[in-house]
Amino acid sequence: MQIKSAEFITSCTHVSGCPELNQPEFALIGRSNVGKSSLLNALVGRNSLAKTSSTPGRTQLINLFAINNRWTLVDLPGYGFAKLSKQSRVLLEKMISGYLTKRTSLSRVFVLIDSRHPPQTIDLEFVEWLMGNGVPMALVFTKSDKVSPTFLRNNVAAFLARVAEWCPEPPPVFGTSAKTGEGRKEILAFIGQMIGI
Ligand code: GTP
Ligand code: MG
Repeated sequence: MQIKSAEFITSCTHVSGCPELNQPEFALIGRSNVGKSSLLNALVGRNSLAKTSSTPGRTQLINLFAINNRWTLVDLPGYGFAKLSKQSRVLLEKMISGYLTKRTSLSRVFVLIDSRHPPQTIDLEFVEWLMGNGVPMALVFTKSDKVSPTFLRNNVAAFLARVAEWCPEPPPVFGTSAKTGEGRKEILAFIGQMIGI
């Protein structure tokens, strides 16, 4: 899929405030600092459409972007950011879970996982929660430029083995790097296939 246009639409604090766009929507979620905003920029080929930062907790709102005037890409805040106050964390978690369970146009959520780490409880629990709530997902291993292909393969296999405990069919998996562009074509092709172009 060629990206012809990518434009910021709006930010919302709650799913009820997100505009009805009548277009299929794809969202990026994952731990704080895993590389959601960077992947969004890499996917659409724009350096700073979504704001990125080396310190976790940068994205605090539901950010909607119109792609090719045909589908929507959503940058979400990260989960598991320990430095937030309890109150802020609960609010963010509500924002994220509300969006994921109530957004009717949501076609697929990409769960980003840092390629460098063995399966983390917080990611496994999040994936289990998505399954329990029937939210369709795919797994995206980020920052692949920081590990060897063998290391990545082993980490993916380890994560899938854990997920298999409660998931009869393994979800689609992508290895990506916002730095090298690895996985970009594959994710765009996957989205293209889902929306029938
Ligand atoms: P929050 O919005 O805070 O939850 O973070 P995020 O998940 O949106 O992460 P963000 O895209 O802001 O990136 C976090 C840091 O990781 C930044 O310093 C990025 O430059 C770096 N980063 C993101 N993706 C990659 C990647 O593929 N390779 C490498 N080497 N660094 C990356
Ligand atoms: Mg971000």
